[in-house]
Amino acid sequence: MTKNWRGQLRVGSIIKETPTVKTIRLQPASGERFLPFTFVPGQFLNVAFWIGGGRMNRSYSISSSPNQREYLDLTVRREPRGAVSRHIVDLLREGDLIEAGGPVGTFTFTGKEADSIVLISGGVGITPMVSISRYLTEQSWPGDIYFIYVCRTPADYILAEEIAELERRNPKLHVTITMTRAEGADWKGPRGHLTEELLTESVPELTSRRIHLCGPIPMMDATKALLAEMGVPKEQVKTEAFGTPKPTPAPAGTTAKPSAEAAGPLVTFSKNNKSAKIHAGQTVLELSEDLGIGIQFSCRVGTCGVCKVKMTEGEVDQEVQDSLDDDDKASGIILACQAKPKTPVTVEA
Ligand SMILES: Cc1cc2nc3c(=O)[nH]c(=O)nc-3n(C[C@H](O)[C@H](O)[C@H](O)COP(=O)(O)OP(=O)(O)OC[C@H]3O[C@@H](n4cnc5c(N)ncnc54)[C@H](O)[C@@H]3O)c2cc1C
Ligand code: FES
Repeated sequence: MTKNWRGQLRVGSIIKETPTVKTIRLQPASGERFLPFTFVPGQFLNVAFWIGGGRMNRSYSISSSPNQREYLDLTVRREPRGAVSRHIVDLLREGDLIEAGGPVGTFTFTGKEADSIVLISGGVGITPMVSISRYLTEQSWPGDIYFIYVCRTPADYILAEEIAELERRNPKLHVTITMTRAEGADWKGPRGHLTEELLTESVPELTSRRIHLCGPIPMMDATKALLAEMGVPKEQVKTEAFGTPKPTPAPAGTTAKPSAEAAGPLVTFSKNNKSAKIHAGQTVLELSEDLGIGIQFSCRVGTCGVCKVKMTEGEVDQEVQDSLDDDDKASGIILACQAKPKTPVTVEA
């Protein structure tokens, strides 16, 4: 697997999946045959666009299989008021170059980690599960794959034909799809949200299996609670959140809000020569936005690593550190979106 690759990729083709979802097929930018990096199924890319004069970073899981070395697919849902997803779905054209970095992420499964896998997803959280299912099928992996997808209506079922084709080819792939809002639609399968009954019917001996879970935050919270009630040990459940709504940061170099009345430790942004006390519960990223420092970010939940900064002084608490490796930690790199200072802190930003 390649680490820390950054560069450009070319949009090779665009496939309309549902009324609001498109797959963007990305190829090498410069005429080479193969992608400049390899990845593990379940990983994602960080992409950046200049929109309205500002640089915006977002993360998208790779939905294609890593066995496919000539291209990779990102499958993106258009959020009604989303800055970047609308740009991708409405404006990207074949031949466009996009800035990307990665591959990133530890929400991966290659078949070596367990002898069966339960993949539970909702909405656009299906994308890493499709990459994993494609890869395991191509490898003729001998384990059982329980693919469970919670979707609103049949029209919103992303990559439906692909899943049906994989199911035909792989007798070890057991697919369960439930529709939460299928009223009036021609749907013969299960309806409603995920329940204990549906999970028990779909996955024998659920409590002994490794489970991957990805979807909208309320669906993930409800599923985690359900799995706990059913007796699944917490350490068997791997999750990935696709982020939270983001406040719009102030453009670099401007001050959006004064940070008066803050009583927490002093934070110094050494490259910008600015310091301010932090509010209780505030992260270094949020304070940097108040001060117009311009630290880049994408997920704001500790997964993507876009907000990494070097801390040259001080101590911070970080609830999630998924995107920091041992080298990062040894050299003082922190995640600005997670870092809550415990002492006065200086960061190189
Ligand atoms: C690891 C990871 C993997 C991901 N993989 C995928 C993937 O495979 N496919 C995919 O589609 N997404 C994926 N995402 C989510 C993706 O990164 C973006 O968060 C998503 O596309 C929304 O970005 P945006 O710029 O369009 O929305 P933003 O502008 O960031 O807005 C975020 C949300 O707030 C809402 N919103 C924005 N402005 C307003 C407003 N003024 N009032 C009310 N609501 C508002 C938007 O509708 C949207 O739902 C992934 C995220 C992570 C962290
Ligand atoms: S913004 Fe993704 S890890 Fe901080």
